[in-house]
Amino acid sequence: MPFVEALEAYKEEHFVPFHTPGHKIGVGAPATLKAWMDPALPYDLGVMYALDDLHEPEGSLKEAQDLAAQLYGADYTWFSINGTTALIETMIMGTVGAGDTIIIPREAHRSVMGGLILSGAKPVYLEGRFDERFGVPLGTTPSEVETVLNEHPEAKAIVLVNPNYYGIAIDLEAIVLLAHKKGVIVLVDEAHGAHLPFGKNLPKSALACGADLVAQSTHKLIGSLTQTSMLHGQDMLINERRITQVHQILQSTSPNYIFLASLDMARHQMATKGRELVTKAEMLAQELRRDLQNIPGINVPAAEDFNGLYDYDATKVLIDFYELGLTGVEAEKLLRKEGIEVELVQAYHVLVLITLGDTKD
Ligand SMILES: Cc1ncc(COP(=O)(O)O)c(C=O)c1O
Repeated sequence: MPFVEALEAYKEEHFVPFHTPGHKIGVGAPATLKAWMDPALPYDLGVMYALDDLHEPEGSLKEAQDLAAQLYGADYTWFSINGTTALIETMIMGTVGAGDTIIIPREAHRSVMGGLILSGAKPVYLEGRFDERFGVPLGTTPSEVETVLNEHPEAKAIVLVNPNYYGIAIDLEAIVLLAHKKGVIVLVDEAHGAHLPFGKNLPKSALACGADLVAQSTHKLIGSLTQTSMLHGQDMLINERRITQVHQILQSTSPNYIFLASLDMARHQMATKGRELVTKAEMLAQELRRDLQNIPGINVPAAEDFNGLYDYDATKVLIDFYELGLTGVEAEKLLRKEGIEVELVQAYHVLVLITLGDTKD
């Protein structure tokens, strides 16, 4: 863990801190902050050029990013302390400009709208499909993408969400081929997919499908701290320098070093134990699905229960209460009374996530 090790070595030097942050390695921190985070506060350092710089990494942070690129099979990786939100904006601003056409899905996250506003690009929409029974978006298809590409030969880039919040994946490999045939850059919002390469029965990762730029929320489904994400790029159609410059614009000039270190730690955890941990999560999710399905009135749809689904990440467990006449909001309230907090509430269902943080208990 090159960046983590650099921080640890720096701490051991015991420099007297005449620099930001004002709490000075925890000494001046409010009592509650100290009580919560005492051992971590010496690593909460300001921009220390001795410790490399997110905005122009050359040392241990560059090494950490390169190791992440190697693990995920990318040519470049950029760390983010502004989540995938800033990275999606980076992908858009880094590839299209004012007046350029970009194809986006209707089900896109609000950061795609942010990217449109910031870049001035013109959107063309993919309507996608919707499962009426369960009330979930199923994403787009190669034939819809082909139609839109033919109608808009001027399009420069396409944004795709894969997998979506529900774990539903599209035929990304076929879509990438269609887009690349026309020289269109493929940007993938893989916020819910940092665990994919380590699973047994999970959808194929966007990089493996040939996407050009892929933004992942490392914090969502694997082990880094909230707000931390990675952007991965493959060489062919992107301009690495331009992406780096936009990344600089959209990241704080005071990146939190504990956040950055947590990305290095999460990468190391996946490199050494990723397969074991993610496979275990898949097994636990299957058990949970089986047990829930045995409860009368409760439905836990599997891949084949959705109408025309391409692929599915079964660690996202949708629990449907329609037959019991309960809305998602009502079910959430009942579950909360039992001490259970869910991820997402919609229509007649709630969504729960099984990750490397779950145990059989
Ligand atoms: C599909 C999708 N894309 C992007 C994001 C933004 O990710 P982050 O929270 O890491 O900024 C989210 C967050 O919920 C999301 O669900």
